Amino acid sequence: MDQLASFYHAHITELNRRVAEITQRENLAGLVIHSGQPHRQFLDDMNYPFKVNPHFKAWLPLLDNPNCWIIANGIDKPTLVFYRPVDFWHKVSDVPDSFWTEHFNIQLLVKADKIAEFLPENLADWAYIGEHLDVADVLEFTARNPDGVLNYLHYHRAEKTQYELACLRRANQIAVRGHIAAKNAFYNGASEFEIQQQYLAAISQGENEMPYGNIIALNENAAILHYMSQEHIKPEQRRSFLIDAGASYHGYAADITRTYAFEKNPFSELIEAVNQAQLKIIDAMKPGVKYPDLHIKTHEYIGQILQDFDLVNSGADEALTAEITKAFFPHGLGHMLGLQVHDMGGYSHDERGTHIPAPEQHPFLRCTRPLAVNQVLTIEPGLYIIDSLLNDLSVSAKQWVNWQTVDFFRPFGGIRIEDNVIVHADRNENMTRELGLE
Ligand code: GLY
Ligand code: MN
Ligand code: MN
Repeated sequence: MDQLASFYHAHITELNRRVAEITQRENLAGLVIHSGQPHRQFLDDMNYPFKVNPHFKAWLPLLDNPNCWIIANGIDKPTLVFYRPVDFWHKVSDVPDSFWTEHFNIQLLVKADKIAEFLPENLADWAYIGEHLDVADVLEFTARNPDGVLNYLHYHRAEKTQYELACLRRANQIAVRGHIAAKNAFYNGASEFEIQQQYLAAISQGENEMPYGNIIALNENAAILHYMSQEHIKPEQRRSFLIDAGASYHGYAADITRTYAFEKNPFSELIEAVNQAQLKIIDAMKPGVKYPDLHIKTHEYIGQILQDFDLVNSGADEALTAEITKAFFPHGLGHMLGLQVHDMGGYSHDERGTHIPAPEQHPFLRCTRPLAVNQVLTIEPGLYIIDSLLNDLSVSAKQWVNWQTVDFFRPFGGIRIEDNVIVHADRNENMTRELGLE
């Protein structure tokens, strides 16, 4: 914790520096960052789980308290207006006392609608950063999530501070623990639902604390890219297991995928081939490398694997040209990772937010900017049997597909292998593997 505290000092110094720079540039007095408000379910008296504004949790690991505010101008010590109602229905958060509290003037807000009393007088010069524009209206902010500010913050968010890297390592360490438990559960005969429960128990996080809904897929379900159901019934035959599951630490996300074969067979060999391709791509990550080039290189590897495993009758090159690799690997290679699973800033060319579009041929790619030191990205190649995509191939491309092999692999669903990687000046840090996940 001591090291985190000292990293945090540098982190908040950097955040203050950014606020000072961008508010001066945009002629603003400062930023007023809203943690958010609860969202009520339609015709109900229940709220959806609270998801804090990522711009708020960038400042401090306060994830579960709506109606809080940060007031920052980059020069003065920032103020945290901490919501602490008198409420006998709900748990009221304790007044914070942690490694970060000394860096804020903390004021307590008892009634959410009294916030105006805590905010600067002339809000016309301040920018509201948050989701609730109706609240910003009532408070008479004129600048609300200004593009100039958000573009700047999102661009810089890609470069993590040492505090953020420490949080991301910790999130990976926690998720690795869950993945090992889930793998054991799979080999011990658990259902998808039971695997999920064992994962959550191993990491001691509830579903609402997770950075995204886990994908826990047995057999054919592994071919459904965002498979969110969890079958309670155990399949009669156990062939394969794809798990895409993360963890959170202080608001930072891990996003890890593994695929397992129940037995040694051609599918386990196919997993190993995708694994080797993934490691080669990670080896090629360096500052200055364009992420789309890595994505295109991955398609070359997938083309080779399709040929090696007799999934196509063509050469690897034809598989690429005929867009067959895209039917087997239809998503992007990965994305930036941080406060959000798909972290902002992946398309930003510069502080002004100049957009670098995804290549026309690869519209799902979520990161187009060059790699740089202290960026954190996922690398997640996949290879799936998705009938709808294979059916959509052109007539000529279909002739290259070896349908018998497709039939053989279909019951296994598919493969994805996803690690979380920090780009350093002289090496890559594959957090997921270095923290113990094979
Ligand atoms: N788990 C979401 C993703 O891999 O992008
Ligand atoms: Mn994932
Ligand atoms: Mn991912």
